[in-house]
Formats: sequence, structure tokens, C-alpha cells
Amino acid sequence: MSSVRSSNAELFSDCDDLGVIESDCWKLLAAAPHDRDCGWRLPVLATFGEQVPRQRTVVLRAVDPESRQIFCHTDVRSPKVKVIRDHPLVSWLFYDASRQVQLQLVGEATVQTAEPETDWLWQQEPAASLQGYLAPYPPGTVRPHCETNLPADMPTKMSSREELAPGRENFAVLCSSIKNLEALILRPNGNRRVVYSYTGSGVASADWLAP
Ligand SMILES: Cc1cc2nc3c(=O)[nH]c(=O)nc-3n(C[C@H](O)[C@H](O)[C@H](O)COP(=O)(O)O)c2cc1C
Repeated sequence: MSSVRSSNAELFSDCDDLGVIESDCWKLLAAAPHDRDCGWRLPVLATFGEQVPRQRTVVLRAVDPESRQIFCHTDVRSPKVKVIRDHPLVSWLFYDASRQVQLQLVGEATVQTAEPETDWLWQQEPAASLQGYLAPYPPGTVRPHCETNLPADMPTKMSSREELAPGRENFAVLCSSIKNLEALILRPNGNRRVVYSYTGSGVASADWLAP
């Protein structure tokens, strides 16, 4: 973890170059899933499709800067999955307090559930991150009493992948293809704000905005 941190110590030290800022955003996104101290590891994912916009904290699990895809995982039975299937446009909000950089991403999300397609993330995650998928009830189900939604016979510490296997069918990967990136960099000598849009082949536009 400390090597991830030190190799990214210089990110956002040059805030006056559109190309450098965009590159730094993707470098920090790619590092965030591996750095528990990075604020961008715990973004807010917003959906719009119900009567009101909905937001929730998720863990950023993986980032592919080449394809500009970002990934988290979720319970396939959770309400957001149906919303995303019906209304794939999502928005992500990140803030890293140590670097004082806010990031807003707009993307088109897909819900991946098939076994070969989602295996890479299921296999790389530690058991502690997966035991929630053993939940007997769909997340958000109204219950008549206080509920942890964990199986009554679940061991306090999950030791093997076999114990987690029944949760596999509830596991889904949310993949967002990023179409728009906006960053706000807070600095004592004046804040900077930038926006980029992407097409399949690369950056389609890059603009400074008034902060
Ligand atoms: C720190 C933190 C991390 C979370 N990580 C995830 C996650 O990676 N995936 C997920 O589906 N929910 C995660 N949650 C729970 C969601 O915020 C949310 O409560 C849940 O997914 C239900 O959302 P929904 O009803 O909109 O579908 C996390 C919550 C917190 C506080």
C-alpha cells in the first residue's frame, strides 16, 4: 500500500495542464482500489430512474484506464440493479480529502452476472468482501425485527471459498463505461475545474470551467 501511495504522491501537483490533469485522474482512479487511505476508493454511485435520484456508497473494485471502465460489485437482488438495467446512465462522485480533488463521472452501466464474465472479480476479492452475498433476503426487504441479513449458521470468520459458494449466484459486477469526467481541484492559489468527454477512441473534448 505504501508504494502505491508514494508512487502517486506527485499527482495533481501540476494543475495547469489539461492533459496532465486528465492523466492524473485515471492514475489515481487505477490506484484507488488498492489503497485503503485513498478517498476515491469509496465513491458514491447515483442512479436516476425511480421517482427520485438515488445515491449509495460503494467500494471501487477495479479500473481499466485504457477502456475507461470502472467496476464495483453488488447483490444482483438489490434495487439498484433493476434501475440500472432500465436506466443505464449513472453518475459517480469521488472526493479525496488528502489531495483535495473532487471527481464526477458520468457513465453507461451494465450489470454482469454470468459466471465466466464475473469470475475475475469474484476470485480476486477477499472472503470478507464477499460474505454479504450469502444474505438470505434481497437487500432492502422489509423485516419485522432487527436484521443483519446473514445466515444464522455463518461462521464468524469465513475461511474457504467453498463456504462462500452459495453466495455466488447473488454476485453481480457493475461495469461503467465513462463518457464524461469532471474534476475540481481545490488549491490555496485558486481552484481549477476541468471537464472531458470521451468517445470510443479517446478524448473528444477537454475544457477548463470556471470553478
Ligand atoms: C463504506 C460502504 C461501502 C459499501 N460498498 C458497497 C458495494 O461495494 N456494493 C454495494 O452494492 N453496496 C455497498 N454498500 C451499501 C450501499 O451503500 C447500499 O446501501 C446498498 O448497496 C443498497 O443500495 P440500493 O438499495 O440502492 O440497491 C456500501 C456501503 C458503505 C457504507
